[in-house]
Amino acid sequence: MKYDELYALLRRRGVLWPSAEIYGGAQGLYDYGPLGTALKRRLEEAWAAWFVGLSPDYYLVDPAEILPEAVVRASGHLENFTDPEVTCESCHSVFRADTILEKVRPEGVDGMTPAQIGEVVRANQLKCPSCGSVELSVPVPFNLMFATSFGVTGKERVYLRPETAQGSYLSFPRMWDVGRHALPLGIAVIGKAYRNEIAPRQVLFRMRAFTQAELQIFFDPAGFPVPFDRVREERLPVLRVDRRQHGEETPELVPAEALVRTGGIPEFYVYHLVHTYRFYRDVLGYPAERIRLFEKSDAERAFYNKIQFDVEVHLESLGGFKELAAVHYRGDYDLSRHSQGSGKDLSVHPTGRSPLLPHVLELTFGVDRNLWGLADQHLTREGERTLWRLPSFLAPVAVGVFPLIARDHAPFARQLVDELAAAGVAAQYDESSSIGKRYARMDEAGAPFCVTVDRDTVADGPARGTVTLRARDSRSQERVPASELAARLSASLRPPRPRRA
Ligand code: GAP
Repeated sequence: MKYDELYALLRRRGVLWPSAEIYGGAQGLYDYGPLGTALKRRLEEAWAAWFVGLSPDYYLVDPAEILPEAVVRASGHLENFTDPEVTCESCHSVFRADTILEKVRPEGVDGMTPAQIGEVVRANQLKCPSCGSVELSVPVPFNLMFATSFGVTGKERVYLRPETAQGSYLSFPRMWDVGRHALPLGIAVIGKAYRNEIAPRQVLFRMRAFTQAELQIFFDPAGFPVPFDRVREERLPVLRVDRRQHGEETPELVPAEALVRTGGIPEFYVYHLVHTYRFYRDVLGYPAERIRLFEKSDAERAFYNKIQFDVEVHLESLGGFKELAAVHYRGDYDLSRHSQGSGKDLSVHPTGRSPLLPHVLELTFGVDRNLWGLADQHLTREGERTLWRLPSFLAPVAVGVFPLIARDHAPFARQLVDELAAAGVAAQYDESSSIGKRYARMDEAGAPFCVTVDRDTVADGPARGTVTLRARDSRSQERVPASELAARLSASLRPPRPRRA
């Protein structure tokens, strides 16, 4: 579906809408309605089941969203978390440098200094997108963090976290103390991150408040054992830096083993990259050919990363491959910076080993972007029908429950909704308009199943207590005892977990 059509549909169905809409909206902020909220929760649950499920030593925590200034100074965000901003000297509009350079440098400005960006702007006689003037300022770094004051005096400066990762680093010493004093140790966070983006756009793609799901794995750099045999033969669609430098844009399928043996990437990294790829292919249901693992060069990588592959998915609504997640090898950057900043030695002493400062492997995932991706991939038009073919365990509504004739069958149908809800199955009652229209509404909401309560359900006779169960994708229908529904549906509503060693 095209961008405008998809966004209009998501708004019309109450999946999401701009925040503070009655006041004209607030750029980069969006609210989720009931369907969006339920889908987002299920996506977060699926993420946790898969990634936290990778090891019994990976845990989910919930740290504070506000960071004292000392934290963001130590993390490097105060100094480095900037985007180059350009001001029009004529109309005073402000732009991100990469939006000004979009036509001449579609690959963006990562790795360029402000002076180099200014040179490209001048050499190409680029114009202000608002007024057309060529009088554009030299780019200056603009810090993306939201700062606010803290405490009754208002003099203490704090920051809304720009990434959830910081909470995991701050939790590490406690988690070490309360844990079993062993590495690897994984600390995951799902929660809001805040960035004062210069140019928020594409709805959920560049927001000013968004949800991240991030797993930080602390490990001994001398050895991070993983069950590599389980992934050795997986063929990954990678686009490596050397091929990109020759203008290649299509990934090549490289066996995981070759990435380690001849590609120079450590086993632990490739193991987690494979699981990230499988999450997109096997859990979220993207066709393999729409996924690309895009290696970032030295100049493009975030300032803290040693190895970085972005997970990109081809999205029709946004006209190309878009970054939805990434795997970052951050080395000892974070713990060494926080050791210096806090004055507390964050090195640890694993049982039977010498003291060491753990390295960090980060799996990072933008929940909102991925929600848009699920709409792009699975929301389709088939003739007259609009169908959201979400995997069942992600569907905001698992089953629509309809009385065939409201007057006669409503009590049983309502009771069935309550019973299903008590069994943990998200059921939604609907009695308005024809059965066909009710099916259509549920198809659009992504409900994988619908159930109709009719005369046979409530009358005496051989079909007593049975309902019609209809599957969204095949449109097949069968009679099923109402008492067996919850058990029957539950298995497909549980998110998949990875196979562990
Ligand atoms: N902890 C590492 C980190 O934050 P990042 O590449 O800046 O790395 C990770 O962000 C993910 O968060 C991205 O892949 C994307 O999915 C999501 N993300 C980043 N900025 C975003 C924004 N302004 N709006 C929505 N999602 C965003």
